Amino acid sequence: MSEHFRVHGGARLAGEVDVVGAKNSVLKLMAAALLAEGTTTITNCPQILDVPYMADVLRSIGCEVSVDGDTVVITTPSELNHRPDAVSMGKLRASVCVLGPLVGRCRRAVVALPGGDAIGSRPLDMHQNGLRQLGATSEIEHGSVVAEAEGLHGAQIWLDFPSMGATENILMAAVLADGTTVIDNAAREPEIVDLCTMLQQMGAKIDGAGTSTLTVHGVTSLQPTEHRVIGDRIVGATWAFAAAITRGDITVRGVDPHHLDLVLDKLRTAGAEITVYDDKAFRVVMNERPKSVDFVTLPYPGFATDLQPFAIALCAVSDGTAMITENLFEARFRFIEEMMRLSADARTDGHHAVIRGVEKLSSAPVWASDIRAGAGLVLAGLCADGVTEVWDVFHIDRGYPEFVENMNRLGAQVERVAAAPSR
Ligand code: UD1
Repeated sequence: MSEHFRVHGGARLAGEVDVVGAKNSVLKLMAAALLAEGTTTITNCPQILDVPYMADVLRSIGCEVSVDGDTVVITTPSELNHRPDAVSMGKLRASVCVLGPLVGRCRRAVVALPGGDAIGSRPLDMHQNGLRQLGATSEIEHGSVVAEAEGLHGAQIWLDFPSMGATENILMAAVLADGTTVIDNAAREPEIVDLCTMLQQMGAKIDGAGTSTLTVHGVTSLQPTEHRVIGDRIVGATWAFAAAITRGDITVRGVDPHHLDLVLDKLRTAGAEITVYDDKAFRVVMNERPKSVDFVTLPYPGFATDLQPFAIALCAVSDGTAMITENLFEARFRFIEEMMRLSADARTDGHHAVIRGVEKLSSAPVWASDIRAGAGLVLAGLCADGVTEVWDVFHIDRGYPEFVENMNRLGAQVERVAAAPSR
């Protein structure tokens, strides 16, 4: 039975919302637990579907994993199975992050190609090249990455692009390599810093976290640890956009506002009043119709591609015309087709989209194509006349804990309905 959300238009969202740990951090931290024999505890975990999916991947490698509320406990054995279950691997993108730890610990891995959001082609060439430079072989065979190494050694690695996944896999292989590895043009996202922090607690020697150059001095073994996941800046930004789009007033707690410096500056340009309280809370108030703002997606500290649907939803109801440029994932503009069902005035040309703001959107049935597109359609539905049905909401459940509950606490009227689709 497929579920959908009924989103009643015309809501103004106001109140406070607590944000828990970042999806794009916790799943990598769970993979990092493979690097040390013993019991690792991760707290402040979001209660989203991807966490139990990742737990299944780790169980298929030989770990014991318990998921209890916001705490995940992983017991890693001395001997790991180097071939995680392919079906579990296919349920999420972050499963690919077991590749680096498995090569580091077992010196070989047969890892089925991961699943995850259908947002464009997501090659693994940089992951593979990095492992090769560390001394492993790496080929795609029968739908899996097959990697083997006699031993791993330090290397100078230049990434073509600051890929999060490639940085994570190379980092997690390099911490147990012999000698020093330098990863240049590394990703700088706060989730990478979080992973470095946990690895350092485990005994890894890493310099340069949060910069484009990561230097890793290999060690012979790591110890398990206890670690608290950083707040989810993408979820925090979703609520920030929700305030701006619905001309509301939302205080977001649990996210470091400095991880959202550019986002909050864009919302300020759109007309919002922003108050930053400390390193864990901020408030977004919008008292007028937003003004259109241009957005360009780039790796951190640029504007996150995951927030692009919210930028489009905002500009769809703003005063003026905006250009949105997508530089990471070509299929993200599929979201615009759904926005046009809601009568958004939009057109795309390659990796640019031009959005002319309208006063009000018009409700319609729409389909979520990925996590953020799903959440973006709900935000857009809040600005439509009538009731918007958002289908395929399992995507939203993969990334947002208590999404409907939080929406309704803030004054929205969103209902989860189990029914067969109408097309
Ligand atoms: C992660 C996030 C995702 C976010 C993305 C960019 C997780 C689970 N997902 O995805 O939500 O949208 O970062 O911030 O953390 N690329 C290659 N070759 C490679 C690897 C990447 O060409 O070997 C390209 C990709 O096609 C894309 C760009 O590099 O155009 C960035 O991808 P990457 O940062 O690797 O994204 P993910 O880690 O998959």
